[in-house]
Amino acid sequence: MRETPSTPAPRPIVGMVGAGQLARMGWQAAISLDIGLVCLGSAGDAAARAGAPLMEGSGRDGAALARLAAGSQVLTFEHELVDLAALGRLEAQGVVARPSAAVLSLAADKLRQRRTLDTLTGVEVPAFTPVTSIGELEEFAAAHGWPLVLKARSGGYDGRGVWICDDGRAAGQAFAEAAAAGLELYAEQAIDLAGEAAVLVARSPSGEVAVYPAVSTYQRDGMCRWVTLPASLPDGLDKKIGRLARTLAEETQLEGLMAVELFLTREGGLLVNELALRTHNTGHIHTEAAVTSQFEQHLRAVLDLPLGLTSPVVPAAAMVNIVGPADGSDPATRLAAALAVPGAHVHLYGKGARPGRKLGHVTVCAQTSEEALALAQEAADRLEGNG
Ligand SMILES: Nc1ncnc2c1ncn2[C@@H]1O[C@H](COP(=O)(O)OP(=O)(O)O)[C@@H](O)[C@H]1O
Ligand SMILES: [Mg+2]
Repeated sequence: MRETPSTPAPRPIVGMVGAGQLARMGWQAAISLDIGLVCLGSAGDAAARAGAPLMEGSGRDGAALARLAAGSQVLTFEHELVDLAALGRLEAQGVVARPSAAVLSLAADKLRQRRTLDTLTGVEVPAFTPVTSIGELEEFAAAHGWPLVLKARSGGYDGRGVWICDDGRAAGQAFAEAAAAGLELYAEQAIDLAGEAAVLVARSPSGEVAVYPAVSTYQRDGMCRWVTLPASLPDGLDKKIGRLARTLAEETQLEGLMAVELFLTREGGLLVNELALRTHNTGHIHTEAAVTSQFEQHLRAVLDLPLGLTSPVVPAAAMVNIVGPADGSDPATRLAAALAVPGAHVHLYGKGARPGRKLGHVTVCAQTSEEALALAQEAADRLEGNG
């Protein structure tokens, strides 16, 4: 006699604020674990296009957050554009948000984040100050010299909202532009960078912490272009970065996943540039290079499941972003050419092509990061139509 299959037991449902590429890759990870995921966003967003369950709405709308929370065990976030006051009120009514509104507020305001980081022992940040007038800007420049960096307190990404200014004229222009757009600003000392790195850390509500190996990151015009593993670091710095990531996760009482962007100074120093309270572009490499992807780790952390191993499964790897080419053509039309590159793991986000827009990434694992980077770059070039 054939047995009737039993109805599956109810699965936990994660309410993901945001439905872009990070939510899309989160959905991919959720499928493997048979965890439910509902994304808050629009039908045209990358996750929704891939078939992730969607609730139409915005994280900036308290009513939408309440609707998402009503059907979810836990709320988590793909981006930080969230009505934090509304989220705080929901938490007071018993809604679980990981990270909490209080922790997420660090990502929502870069100046507030800088100030918080500045109070932590063992954490160094570039010198900074809020600026509300050209006078304050000039005062900071007199103390720290040129160039200096102007940054928007909120709403920036991929270098938007960051102005590296060589002199007073450039700073004045950037200041006027930002003021016209209604942005609040702070000024920061420009660091003579020996390089940039990033590290991911997960912390679960039970207090378990898992730190990924650091990666080297390369930015052009403020946008991350590629990432390599292992990070190229002076002796002993990888251990220091690991300790720093753990400290940051514990000091902030993180619940979820956090990326830490780091500046390496020419003198061998380590400065924290910024924190992201979510999965991060620089962590995509771990999908193929580590035991546990950042997307799975994020789900494990917010559901208080045991965290996965973060150790590398390959000697080296590289991840190169696919950016919309100037002619507006869609890299997806050149998929076959990229797949002909040996070992290329191509990830396309299903987003509309636009010059300069991040549309996907390629990861390659190899014996050395140089070898991996050459192959990943080759595949990315082919997708961008430069190959
Ligand atoms: N103080 C600084 N000194 C030197 N370079 C900087 C500084 N601040 C930002 N940058 C450069 O600009 C990039 C983007 O700045 P960041 O503050 O991380 O903004 P975003 O939110 O756009 O990532 C950094 O990764 C780095 O390459
Ligand atoms: Mg950044």
